[in-house]
Amino acid sequence: MKNDAFYVTTPIYYVNDKPHIGHAYTTMLADMLARAHRLLGHDTWFLTGTDEHGQKVQEAATKRGIPAQQHVDEVVVRFQELWERLEITHDDFIRTTEPRHTRGVQEILQDLFDRDEIYQAEYDGLYDVRSETFITEKDLPEGCSLDSLPDWVKPIRETNYFFRMSKYQDWLIQYIEDNPGFIQPDFRRNETLGFLRKPLADLCISRPKARLSWGIELPFDPDYVTYVWFDALVNYISGVGYRHNDEQFARRWPCQVHLIGKDILTTHTVYWPTMLKAMGVDQPQCIFAHGWWLSGRDKMSKSTGNVVNPLDYAERFGVDALRYFLMAEMSLGQDASFTEEVFVKRYNSDLANDLGNLTSRVLKMVHTHCDAAVPVPSEAARTEPSAAALWSVVTDAVNGMETHIAAMRPDLGLHAVMTAVREANKYIGTRAPWKQAKEEDKQPLQDTLYVALEVLRVCAALLFPVMPGKMKALRHQIGAGEGDPQVNQLREFGVLEPGTPLLEGEGLFPRAQIEKIKEDPPPKAAKPEAAKLKAEKAENVVEISEITFDDFGKLALRTATVVAAEKVEGADKLLKLQLDVGGEPRQIVAGIAQHYAPETVVGKTIVIVANLKPAVIRGVQSNGMLLAASKGKNLVLVTTDAKIDSGARVG
Ligand code: ME8
Ligand code: MG
Repeated sequence: MKNDAFYVTTPIYYVNDKPHIGHAYTTMLADMLARAHRLLGHDTWFLTGTDEHGQKVQEAATKRGIPAQQHVDEVVVRFQELWERLEITHDDFIRTTEPRHTRGVQEILQDLFDRDEIYQAEYDGLYDVRSETFITEKDLPEGCSLDSLPDWVKPIRETNYFFRMSKYQDWLIQYIEDNPGFIQPDFRRNETLGFLRKPLADLCISRPKARLSWGIELPFDPDYVTYVWFDALVNYISGVGYRHNDEQFARRWPCQVHLIGKDILTTHTVYWPTMLKAMGVDQPQCIFAHGWWLSGRDKMSKSTGNVVNPLDYAERFGVDALRYFLMAEMSLGQDASFTEEVFVKRYNSDLANDLGNLTSRVLKMVHTHCDAAVPVPSEAARTEPSAAALWSVVTDAVNGMETHIAAMRPDLGLHAVMTAVREANKYIGTRAPWKQAKEEDKQPLQDTLYVALEVLRVCAALLFPVMPGKMKALRHQIGAGEGDPQVNQLREFGVLEPGTPLLEGEGLFPRAQIEKIKEDPPPKAAKPEAAKLKAEKAENVVEISEITFDDFGKLALRTATVVAAEKVEGADKLLKLQLDVGGEPRQIVAGIAQHYAPETVVGKTIVIVANLKPAVIRGVQSNGMLLAASKGKNLVLVTTDAKIDSGARVG
């Protein structure tokens, strides 16, 4: 890392709409990373902003009967206010209508035009007004043709300007192959490489003003404005001083990670790198595409009215709980399901129960039995076997958080912290300080409570970037002081100063109830389960209905390696498995817990149905189904005869 520099970006969001949970997610993820790097003392910069030009914005303004600039000035406030409410700590907010940006874009265009990287040509074809891109006949949806175009596709014939993107195709493929970390996760990198197997066309970078006037004017032809993506992508450099603040630019660029959703992979991994190459600017270190938040199992969309508003959850459960949920629930890369049920379940189990209970029990006892001050430990607090064992789990959490954040798996990092919290609850259960309090010798009691406070200190620091407000309060309550946590003290035991007064505070995470229970569809598991029972009864009856080869071809069967497994709380038949499917992380829930202990399946190569519609089973997201053979009471997993990479086709 360049002088410990850490520069992270989010997409700049379109201002034609209200921000929703997806926008909030990417921004919170960037915020969590930025906060973590700041705690580590890195020279951190976090940029977000808004994409304010283009057809959709112009249409939205026209609909309201106001000038486009007024429209964007009004709508941008919604984003800025939301980020404030969600405690987002961006260092800068860039709007593409600002002069520092528009000037930068124009200078880049002029330079590329002068060097013949941009040329004029006639375009005769189709235009998709929704995505603001030129498309070909094969991109039309089923049932449509050149004679019956959907209303969002218009035939056009016009003169435009083109960027010579095609000439960089071979260079780009080579660059991606030489730099495995450039596009992440790996399966997204493969997606881009797949896209690049077809010949790459030059990129149309202009729109005639006659059709679209809301954009940055081409410096070499005032009849045109710049194509919105050629404008928007430049924010990542214009926002850190490109061509107007050389010192800032040298300090910040290249950026460590562009966080994006999977929807904008091509623009970021094909257009942007080739643009930078033509400009002679270094490439970003990593472009990381995360998956999609679904509303239950469905895509969130305004038309179905199932869009989750982050403010609703922030109001009901607090900003920190929302931040925690989003970070803990999504395995980066994969899609995840947002439902009230899943939210409340995780909130209650991780925050209200595990962390909340640990905190309130410990604080209550310290207040009652230790004069509301950090107790004085003896040497046994460090050496007593159960305390030492607990501390080693805490150290695992510190290490886990560090490696998982570096690998962009905050969910696993948080899991490691929650494991430490649960161990601490067990430790309290075994040491029974309420009994120790009745003994004459108060030292064992003081040791127990001191150990518990130290565990809370470390956990509060590890959770700080995710839940800054609540963890600040917790640090306050355990006598850890007002300032930011010192991350260089996380592996040290004995940091809290005995005698420091603990401050009174409110319970951190009151238990929550599901309010507007929308009848969740019956869990998917029920069906296969019922079907299996029926099949078991009919085991010896040969009753096979034929399917065609095409029917079979609909199944995407793949090999998968089990990376981690755990029981699903409150469901004795279910295991939650983390799989690797050819570099793609996946989570599935399987009804095999009565046949396999979690640790015995880790490392196995199994077979899964990879294209089964995602389901939420007992509040846990499941993306696929594994194959198992069963007869009577026996059940065994289907595995492969010899070693083969995960992600291999089966069939
Ligand atoms: O594409 N789940 O802006 P945009 C997860 N202006 N993330 C989601 C999501 C969901 N359901 N919905 C949206 C644009 N996002 C361009 C970007 S960048 C130079 C220009 C997040 O307002 C995710 O990060 O459509 C996605 O990539 C982004 O919002 C798209 O925001
Ligand atoms: Mg979009």
